[in-house]
Amino acid sequence: MDRRALLAGGAVLAAGVGAAATALVRGGDGGRAAAPPPEPPVPFFGARQAGVTAPQQPATQLLALDLAPAAASDGRAALRGLLGELTRILAEAAGGTSADARLRGGEPARLDGLVGVGPGLATRLGLNVPAQVLAELPAFPGDRLDPARGGGDLLLQLCAADRWPLSVVAEQVTAAAGAAGATVRWTQSGFLPRTTGGATPRNLFGFKDGTANPDEDAARQWVWGPPGPYEHGTVLVYRRIRMDTAAFAALPADRRELAMGRRAGDGAPLTGTAEHDEPDIYAKNPDGSYVIPATAHVRLSSPRLDGGARMLRRGYSYDDGPGDRGLLFCAFMRDPAQFTRVQNRLAARDALNAFLEHTASAVVYVLPGAPEGGVLGAGLFG
Ligand code: HEM
Repeated sequence: MDRRALLAGGAVLAAGVGAAATALVRGGDGGRAAAPPPEPPVPFFGARQAGVTAPQQPATQLLALDLAPAAASDGRAALRGLLGELTRILAEAAGGTSADARLRGGEPARLDGLVGVGPGLATRLGLNVPAQVLAELPAFPGDRLDPARGGGDLLLQLCAADRWPLSVVAEQVTAAAGAAGATVRWTQSGFLPRTTGGATPRNLFGFKDGTANPDEDAARQWVWGPPGPYEHGTVLVYRRIRMDTAAFAALPADRRELAMGRRAGDGAPLTGTAEHDEPDIYAKNPDGSYVIPATAHVRLSSPRLDGGARMLRRGYSYDDGPGDRGLLFCAFMRDPAQFTRVQNRLAARDALNAFLEHTASAVVYVLPGAPEGGVLGAGLFG
């Protein structure tokens, strides 16, 4: 897997890929498939949390927690204790050392995850987080946000090859939260199609989603914090966006592609021939109109309209029943103002708007990773 795909997270680690490949290798045992080698675990400890850096896996679960109201000093102690427990749960699940028999002995869970702190908690407890993360996102035109499905003091995102270990770990997280006087505010699960060879997964409109993501240099500038205490932290913006997939699918194919600014088949921009060609938002047709129309999604979200700023998008689809399917937009960036600028442009005139409804929102400061044997969030309490 090349570095770009790795960082972009566009490569969905297909748990079945290794298995399928090795199943083709026949041993001298009468043609029975050789046992696939176990997939290596995703290391938990490191400068940055694996839930941002590991290749995207096909299943995700988000869990938001609210801490019990408490005086600042008690609240800080409760938070410290809870972060210690969350570190233990995630490290054990990632390393295959959980005391929970369900996570041992079988297939390794290959879980990765992240923990972030919401603006409300950071403000209440006077935590060390970047100043720009102390405010909630502004309201955007067209928002239909359900507060019970968004916000929260802490946000965890768990990812794995399938949902099974996510449910087990979510149960452990819920128990640890309860013991610390915290409650689960909301949960949301999501999925991606399994892809092979680093291919970009498709969203429920059928388009490749996650193509134009920053490379390492751009990520250092736009995704991770500046050198200093927040260098290995980032900000997660989460939006639950309902998609009218039937109405979009009913559009003629060329209208769908003009709305997106890319081709559905190979994901190439309308101005290019290959998926990773840079969209040329200034290219014109002979009649003077833009090749990528004025209201196309990739024009309005283009870094060229934003001083080159890029966010790392690692979205998932969700399906909560008829009429409630869509995208869990998950994007990482140094400053949530990046999201606000793009979303203001999209909300004003994105051709996709007729098919979208933003139903929930959250923003959190994603903590730097924990060093080997350390605890997440140690820098919050200086
Ligand atoms: C359900 C809603 C959405 C859908 C279906 C969608 C879909 C897509 C697709 C198919 C692409 C082109 C392929 C790619 O580069 O990944 C794209 C690009 C992009 N989208 Fe979205 N998107 C949605 C919402 C949003 C939102 C809310 C934002 C941010 C406010 C956003 C920001 C971007 C950005 C920054 C790009 C890359 C532009 C570039 O660098 O060329 N998208 N999106």
